[in-house]
Amino acid sequence: MEEKILLAGASGALGLEVLKLLHQQGKKVRALVHSADGVEKVSNFTDDVWRADASEGNEVIKDITKDISIVISTLGKSVSLFTNRGKSFMENDFYANSNILDDAVKNNVKRFIYVSIKGAEKALEYEVAKSHKMVEDALEASGLDYTIIRPVGFFSGLNDLAIMAKRKVIPIVGDGNARTNSIHQKDLAKVVVKYLNEGPDLIEVGGPLVHTRREMADMIAEKIGGKVIPVPEKVAEWGMFLPEMVDDNISAKLKYFKFVTTNDMIGEKHGDITFEEYLESLDLEKDLP
Ligand SMILES: NC(=O)c1ccc[n+]([C@@H]2O[C@H](COP(=O)([O-])OP(=O)(O)OC[C@H]3O[C@@H](n4cnc5c(N)ncnc54)[C@H](OP(=O)(O)O)[C@@H]3O)[C@@H](O)[C@H]2O)c1
Repeated sequence: MEEKILLAGASGALGLEVLKLLHQQGKKVRALVHSADGVEKVSNFTDDVWRADASEGNEVIKDITKDISIVISTLGKSVSLFTNRGKSFMENDFYANSNILDDAVKNNVKRFIYVSIKGAEKALEYEVAKSHKMVEDALEASGLDYTIIRPVGFFSGLNDLAIMAKRKVIPIVGDGNARTNSIHQKDLAKVVVKYLNEGPDLIEVGGPLVHTRREMADMIAEKIGGKVIPVPEKVAEWGMFLPEMVDDNISAKLKYFKFVTTNDMIGEKHGDITFEEYLESLDLEKDLP
């Protein structure tokens, strides 16, 4: 029987790029998404689509891995400050992924690739990290063959700053000297697909160029406008620069945002799309609300 892959989170910023690559390679894919929008995004690339809230329990995704040999999970709640509402990272990401993992073990899936996050080892301090680390630990203990990919921030994740730039302010937390090699989600998708059949247990992945946060903020200002404003670390945690946001999850996101923007976040270099090229490709009206 031809091999089939379950791609959880197939409609996300990263998931959709993975789906397109698998489709180009002629692979058979089952896609798991959450929303009606998600169904629409993936339906050009596969007709085997499951729509469910995988965090709701084993029953709603029962046998989603039947006849599946490899699972890829890019499923996770958005870390964007502008898309929110709903369950916490633990309630959503941990339960959804561990329900999929349980089903995979039950159905003798061969291999599981999990997209986690750079900084997951800081599980005790940050909820975003904790939900990923708990899935990592469950995967390691599952007995399945696996690869855990911990990426630095995606370029799409930096759209938050671009949206703020449209509102004339680009906050940088602290002195802006922390460095990172953010990666285009298309380049990251290539890494995910490269490890489809085998790969390291754990790899931290970044993009081709290392920049300071200040340099990235300056590039955004040059392309979009807005003023780069340094925000003291404590103030950043309180979300003073986003007064309209009152959601429960915002504090978890802001804490992680502060952590990643004030510490060096550098992964193994992959891909070739630069942040400058990404900014050039953005359609300010269509891509940024
Ligand atoms: N963005 C970054 O900078 C970054 C950096 C490092 C790591 N990561 C991690 O990488 C992963 C992918 O990130 P992303 O930016 O691609 O996320 P995204 O664009 O928000 O996509 C998330 C995907 O997961 C699905 N999903 C979420 N909750 C679900 C649930 N309960 N049941 C079923 N499907 C569910 C969504 O479906 P719908 O579209 O139908 O809602 C969507 O397909 C996340 O785990 C994130 O933490 C992200």
